[in-house]
Amino acid sequence: MFIHRPIVIANWKMNTSVEEGERLFERIQRDLVEIKNKVDVVICPPATHLSEFKVQSSKFKVGLGCQNIHWEEEGAYTGEISILMVKDCCQYVIVGHSERREYFGETDEIVNKKIKQVLKHKLIPILCIGEKLEQRKQNETKKIVESQLKEGLNNIQYSISNIQSLPIIAYEPVWAIGTGQTPDPLETNKTCKFIREVLTELYNEDIAHRIRILYGGSVNSENVAEFTSREEIDGLLVGGASLDPGEFTRIVKSVTEHTQ
Ligand code: PGA
Repeated sequence: MFIHRPIVIANWKMNTSVEEGERLFERIQRDLVEIKNKVDVVICPPATHLSEFKVQSSKFKVGLGCQNIHWEEEGAYTGEISILMVKDCCQYVIVGHSERREYFGETDEIVNKKIKQVLKHKLIPILCIGEKLEQRKQNETKKIVESQLKEGLNNIQYSISNIQSLPIIAYEPVWAIGTGQTPDPLETNKTCKFIREVLTELYNEDIAHRIRILYGGSVNSENVAEFTSREEIDGLLVGGASLDPGEFTRIVKSVTEHTQ
């Protein structure tokens, strides 16, 4: 059961042309029109789609997020996207996704710089953390998520005065992303509880309880309830299934069924 308002975030990754994206976005918004009051829905399309989507999303109040930004605001970084280019078009930024860590060499230090940039511009960071399969086999899940959290949030202070930009934490075991494999939901719930304990240590209990902790990795309409019925899981980060509008709507509807 959710303590706070649940959130479902769609990560489209490097998929859809602008035109395909617009069709998908319109369809999702239409399908979600009746249930949008019970759950926050955020779409993270490719950055090229954001300004067009911004015009449409204001009608339906679907949130928008960018999948990545650079840690600098401007400069000689060919091909990169600055927060200044997207901040007027979205409210959220995904930071530290495992694909960025793996294919683009993002370290916790880079993740930390990016989060600071997101916060400077008053957007909400979605910090992704999670262990690889070998690390899990070595029983290192807690150690990994703890260090990714502590280093990702290093020197970032939160108090009651800036709770509007509290991060969202997405726990995504790397081996579960895009593989069709999912972790045991009970164990996932425990890991999310542990994440909240680390956040309590970093900040305090009140702040930690206001931070939404999501699960991500091969979520679909069949397995969604197993995760969202757990008390430590406040929502989902959905990749592949968010590209299928029917499937994504079923996932969001399932989440509303577990909302008090
Ligand atoms: P998936 O991706 O749902 O396709 O496993 C999740 C993610 O990468 O955030």
